[in-house]
Amino acid sequence: MSKAHLADALTITRLSLHVLGATIWIGGQAVMAGLVPVLREGGSELPAKAARVFGRLAWPAYVLLLLTGFWNMGIANNSGTTWGWQFAMGLKFLAVIGAGAGAFLHTRATTASKRGMFAGIGFLFSLIAMVLGVALAG
Ligand code: HEM
Repeated sequence: MSKAHLADALTITRLSLHVLGATIWIGGQAVMAGLVPVLREGGSELPAKAARVFGRLAWPAYVLLLLTGFWNMGIANNSGTTWGWQFAMGLKFLAVIGAGAGAFLHTRATTASKRGMFAGIGFLFSLIAMVLGVALAG
């Protein structure tokens, strides 16, 4: 086992931006889910208003995750990867697509039950992407 050592400045920048994107994307969804019942008490249109505001933060965070994710992948591929790493990366890619698709379909759903279902699917895939990301970080 090698000694724990500090990351260099570029690695700190790359991973901090990636984790910042993940905190906004995942943390924001969790906070929205918790707030919706309270917002409903203030009027039926309030949850949708809050969701639109969150969308202005969440989608840029998703784009940040994609950009820094490809940056991460490029660095890893440069130094060589195992078959297991590549397999986990493939799974993660599917989870990222599922997360984005779930969130998008959630915004387009016309009934409350579909909105809830797609929000749940998007959130679950986001959590899977996060755990696989931690595994990829090694
Ligand atoms: C929903 C979207 C995503 C979430 C929530 C997410 C989350 C994470 C998290 C939490 C880590 C661990 C960081 C650490 O422990 O230092 C990570 C690492 C990583 N992610 Fe993502 N990620 C997402 C999208 C992507 C995408 C789109 C790619 C590739 C195109 C990607 C590739 C990677 C790689 C290669 C690592 C390992 C980085 C390293 O150790 O250098 N991620 N991700």
